[in-house]
Amino acid sequence: FWLRGRQPEKRVEFAEELGMWSVYGHPEIEQILRDPATFSSDTTRLVPEEMLKNADYEVTSAGNLLQLDPPLHNKMRKLVSRAFTPKVVADLEPRIAAITHELLDAVGTQGRLELVEDLAYPLPVIVIAELLGVPAGDRYLFKGWVDSMFESSEQISLVKNDEKQDEAIKKSMAGQKALLDYLGEHVDERRKQPREDLLTKLVEAELDGERLSRAEVVNFANILLLAGHITTTMLLGNTVLCLDTHPAWDERARADRTLVPAVIEESLRYLTPFAAVARTTTRETEVGGVTIPADRMLMAWIAAANRDERVFADPDRFDPLRDPNPHLAFGRGIHFCIGAPLARLEGRVATNILFDRYPALRTIPGEPPKFQVNPNMTGVRELPLTTA
Ligand code: HEM
Repeated sequence: FWLRGRQPEKRVEFAEELGMWSVYGHPEIEQILRDPATFSSDTTRLVPEEMLKNADYEVTSAGNLLQLDPPLHNKMRKLVSRAFTPKVVADLEPRIAAITHELLDAVGTQGRLELVEDLAYPLPVIVIAELLGVPAGDRYLFKGWVDSMFESSEQISLVKNDEKQDEAIKKSMAGQKALLDYLGEHVDERRKQPREDLLTKLVEAELDGERLSRAEVVNFANILLLAGHITTTMLLGNTVLCLDTHPAWDERARADRTLVPAVIEESLRYLTPFAAVARTTTRETEVGGVTIPADRMLMAWIAAANRDERVFADPDRFDPLRDPNPHLAFGRGIHFCIGAPLARLEGRVATNILFDRYPALRTIPGEPPKFQVNPNMTGVRELPLTTA
């Protein structure tokens, strides 16, 4: 929506900065997300042949649910959806509460909290690591790799200087490779020695009577680990930030906890963590009255759609009582976020525990929050708070 700011009346345009089409409107994006035949999630379709021959390609794309189209997508999604049924997720509530308390117990009593480091980063990563069955204590390793992937990907999309671009790509790939190698070792272990965890379930899962390949399991785990924590970290930070900047809502939600889920939904709309999703056109098509040729890359800016005044009255106002609140923060259609119930649960549990433990939680004058540098991500990277 930083792009849309230039010409707010535009819903669809070719964005020179990105070298691809950008779509900002809510109905236009719904049309795209609900039509996977015309708008493929397989962005590798447009990657030149010679790049596909690169040895790393197979490793990074097989089994990547986010980039699969039907019919393979439906089959793969079925495999993992069993791990995220409403019952499985609801049963995690006591564990999420226990982890939240443990993390906050460790903070000390100096009247300060760095929300991201102390809670918003470790909580979702511990939850997803425990689900997968990789040691949650390794989260500092993941963080290093993931940070290098995302910080350098900002340069990849925006910096035109070739040398810097090359360096950024190398750094990003090195982070991704380290994470894939790490997961690969765990997958190999599970093949030899099954355990009671999601990684073992993926190793043993069958698709059309055949087990998934090693690369598929590794990439599947990679997507869960990545998608399962960065976005939720941002949701938790953003929710606290929204309450800090809207103290009347902070007071109201503290007094009436039934409002907490609505606060979280509005935070997802107002500061949408995952700002854009990518698609490629499989044929010439029309979106919002604009013709987009076949085989073009497009970014659907869900963060902009979540401020579309045709759907949300007074869209720049933070109002948890919006009803309905059809935000697109978790996407729509066949790729709708599989982890949405888990993210919502973590948000609700963490917010309630923060309310219980700290009668006040405020940003500190002179120590403003730091935001993510990647334009695809809306969220705080550091959020120092006073608890007094
Ligand atoms: C898909 C956002 C949390 C796993 C998506 C999509 C969005 C999204 C927008 C759709 C992408 C597309 O259409 O191309 C978010 C946000 C989260 C969150 C904002 C937190 C606030 C989680 C969690 C997990 C997860 C906790 C896992 C435990 C996934 C997976 C997909 C997905 C596997 C791919 C689904 C598919 O392609 O069928 N997420 N997500 N997400 N998300 Fe999330």
